Amino acid sequence: MALLEVRRVDVRFGGLHVLHDVTFACEAGEITGLIGPNGAGKTTTFNVISGVQTPTEGTVILNGEDVSSLKPHLRARRGIARTFQRLEVFGSMTARDNVRVAAEVAQRRRKHGAAKGSVRDVVNLIIERVGLSEVADEQSDALPTGHLRLVELGRALATGPSLLLLDEPSSGLNERESAAFGELLTELADEGLGILLVEHDVPMVMAICERVHVLDQGMVIASGTPAEVQANNAVQEAYLGTKGAAL
Ligand SMILES: Nc1ncnc2c1ncn2[C@@H]1O[C@H](COP(=O)(O)OP(=O)(O)OP(=O)(O)O)[C@@H](O)[C@H]1O
Ligand SMILES: [Mg+2]
Repeated sequence: MALLEVRRVDVRFGGLHVLHDVTFACEAGEITGLIGPNGAGKTTTFNVISGVQTPTEGTVILNGEDVSSLKPHLRARRGIARTFQRLEVFGSMTARDNVRVAAEVAQRRRKHGAAKGSVRDVVNLIIERVGLSEVADEQSDALPTGHLRLVELGRALATGPSLLLLDEPSSGLNERESAAFGELLTELADEGLGILLVEHDVPMVMAICERVHVLDQGMVIASGTPAEVQANNAVQEAYLGTKGAAL
């Protein structure tokens, strides 16, 4: 059973038909790429999965269960976490406090469940994991984008997700930071996390994804391994408007 199934999703904004019959799946323990040109509908797809956008038609299935009618916070409780294309970090708080807020919310949710360690331990582990130890107590406003992307990732991880939706997480990162970010995502997936990655850094997507789905003008025009997708003519055209050009 797939971790996530997006089935036949349509989204219309008035006369604008933004998603057409979008269907794809994500597996646990894998990074799945969702790529496509600007305006293709990638962020809208994330909004449908996380529940902030109600689709005109279609369903979202998490672990075999239809979550289409659940509000965003209830989907979060079932294990969906996300980061945002436009960074959404609390600038007046430290990196550590940004992660702590999310960890505390998750802890309160589990109040009556099994103990999962103290918030402080969880936060320390995550800060170390994402590589923020040295700057964890600095105010986020003062941190460069590379660090803020890690703060967002840490905050998403602090909710203990099974599915992580990342909307252009390497935007604003330099080459070295992107490579390290990609390695971290690979490690997280190896530990069982399912990751759906929207990313314009196509070489990164091709390097770390098991499968890639390509959206163009609201439609899935190709799905397959990175090699299959890269060789697909429709994909080449969607990206570059030229048949046969290299991605
Ligand atoms: N709330 C909205 N109302 C009307 N149109 C919208 C709304 N949100 C998005 N759109 C339109 O839907 C289309 C898809 O937008 P979306 O943001 O999902 O694309 P994207 O693939 O994430 O693009 P990018 O790569 O630039 O982030 C665009 O034409 C956009 O202008
Ligand atoms: Mg977008």
